Amino acid sequence: MQQSIRLNKFLARAGVASRRHADELIAAGRVSIDGKAARELGTMVEPASEVRVDGAPVAPPEELTYLLMNKPLGVVTTMHDPQGRRTVGQLVNGRPRVFPVGRLDYATAGALLLTDDGELAHRLLHPRFGVDKTYRAEIGGRLSPDEVRRLMEGISLEDGRAAGAKVRVLAVRRERSVVDVTIHEGRNRQVRRMFEAIGHPILALTRTRFGPLRLGSLPAGHVRALTEKELEALQRHRRPPAQSPRTNRLR
Ligand code: URA
Repeated sequence: MQQSIRLNKFLARAGVASRRHADELIAAGRVSIDGKAARELGTMVEPASEVRVDGAPVAPPEELTYLLMNKPLGVVTTMHDPQGRRTVGQLVNGRPRVFPVGRLDYATAGALLLTDDGELAHRLLHPRFGVDKTYRAEIGGRLSPDEVRRLMEGISLEDGRAAGAKVRVLAVRRERSVVDVTIHEGRNRQVRRMFEAIGHPILALTRTRFGPLRLGSLPAGHVRALTEKELEALQRHRRPPAQSPRTNRLR
């Protein structure tokens, strides 16, 4: 940590508690800075300060980078491509330490998180944590209510049954339909394979949400830093302390 930071933000970034819960801990006198109880909500933490909660030291949050990209079509989700294709690495030029969390196909656009926080990336990708991902799919043909039901119940794929998806139908026409599909698994080409299995090839696919991160109006090829609120929401995916001694989170 290289700069002073508000105490509640310090605790949230360190994975101890949400900012709101941190304020409650502070107000309850459970937090100390350099041995003195810190009861003022606006208290700042200096880089050399020692923060404790209930007497236990809290490791200062690391200076990590968290970026949201709108991955364009025709770009490979990797930092370097031996075949010389365009990569997401080229779009985050100058931040060589970050890497993509999961992957989007060459022909899929949309929300992609890049970070140098290996621990968080691991947790977000772990099937046990099942982060929800929403995709807007433009598909060939008219989607029937029965096909919607099959998607919601779970489609049988060659590598096993896909868990039921949340489905929101936005448009149904004879030649093409538009659907929002939310899944929590992350199998290879899963959304494309789900629609292929019910006889509707995907014409265009965009990920509009990754967990708490929404693509919004971020233009294709652009990258932005996550907001404090988004970071806090992602931190909730860290494991509770009983299973992981490396994290500080309090319940
Ligand atoms: N499902 C797909 O089929 N492709 C992606 O890029 C992501 C999910």
